[in-house]
Amino acid sequence: MKTILITGGTGFIGSHTTVELQKAGYNVVIADNLSNSNENVIDNIEKITNIRPCFIKVDLSKEDECKKVFDKYPNIEGVINFAASKAVGESCEKPIMYYKNNFGIILNVLEQMKQRDIKYFVQSSSCTVYGEPDKLPIKESSPIKEATSPYGHTKQVSEEILKFVTLSSNIKVIALRYFNPIGAHESALIGELPNGVPNNLIPYITQTAIGLRKQLTVFGDDYPTPDGTCIRDYIHVVDLAKAHVVAIDRLINNKNKKSLEFFNIGTGNGFSVLEVIKSFEKTSGVKLNYVIGPRRQGDIIQIYADTSLAEKELGWKAQENLDSMTLSAWKWQLALKK
Ligand code: WQD
Repeated sequence: MKTILITGGTGFIGSHTTVELQKAGYNVVIADNLSNSNENVIDNIEKITNIRPCFIKVDLSKEDECKKVFDKYPNIEGVINFAASKAVGESCEKPIMYYKNNFGIILNVLEQMKQRDIKYFVQSSSCTVYGEPDKLPIKESSPIKEATSPYGHTKQVSEEILKFVTLSSNIKVIALRYFNPIGAHESALIGELPNGVPNNLIPYITQTAIGLRKQLTVFGDDYPTPDGTCIRDYIHVVDLAKAHVVAIDRLINNKNKKSLEFFNIGTGNGFSVLEVIKSFEKTSGVKLNYVIGPRRQGDIIQIYADTSLAEKELGWKAQENLDSMTLSAWKWQLALKK
């Protein structure tokens, strides 16, 4: 049984990826500092798969702590790297913390891999690297625009770091550029659990619907889109998790065509904020209390993926539709209340 290290594995996407990796027969080690999650995620993963992942609480941005992980688990064959600070707004207030943390983590992990001849690395990248697209749907070959936040900049620079590391080592990399991950596992045992006031749309919707928030503010309806609100490519987190299993399989079986490959992981469909609200109201049966407010600084107008490369090379395609995403997010919010 091959062992995969998941950094940030108690997080939203990391926990769902752990479940899918275990279902695919991998042994999973989770390294996480629990700064944006908690340890009962490990219990809930075990409830879903009946397999308790190994867990080590560490700050991977500290070299000696990162080394501890690889000393303790010498049979790690590959790494999926989720661990990073990821709030766009917060990154604008605390750029130095973002650069130190996100670059510290990826550099420490890559250094340990190089020293121990561990070859396979899947990077959690983001459509944020593209910035505001000129043409849609956006392809992996689309131009990378200047970052509009330190968070997006760390994702761009991390891809550059990976390019040079793969040129000077045996490490093979697949960078998955996520669009907007939403929803939750069908068990409602794991899901998105933002600390404090949610930045992202879906948790704010479900928390408003359940009464934790008074009202949702739609950030602007005067954009040049059909209904005036921004358009995003929302993807079910389980579809996204499955893409990571396909990616690590591809590397371990040496099916990759280059030492560094990029794939857009989205659905290829764009939905507006108002369309997401409509879907939520339909699937939850809850009338959402929302108001149209001013635009949010830094929001791009619209983005959605050209997913043909992932379909062709990875044989992966998103299966879930928007309604199943909003329903699963609602079931998760209801379960949280219990
Ligand atoms: C979606 C839409 C908002 C909240 C971010 C990161 C991206 C990725 C996904 C990590 C926008 C609108 C939101 C609210 C609203 N994360 N909205 N009211 O900004 O597309 O992407 O999360 O990789 O990197 O940038 O996601 O959910 O914040 O916003 O109207 O209370 O919902 O204006 O149009 P975003 P989001």
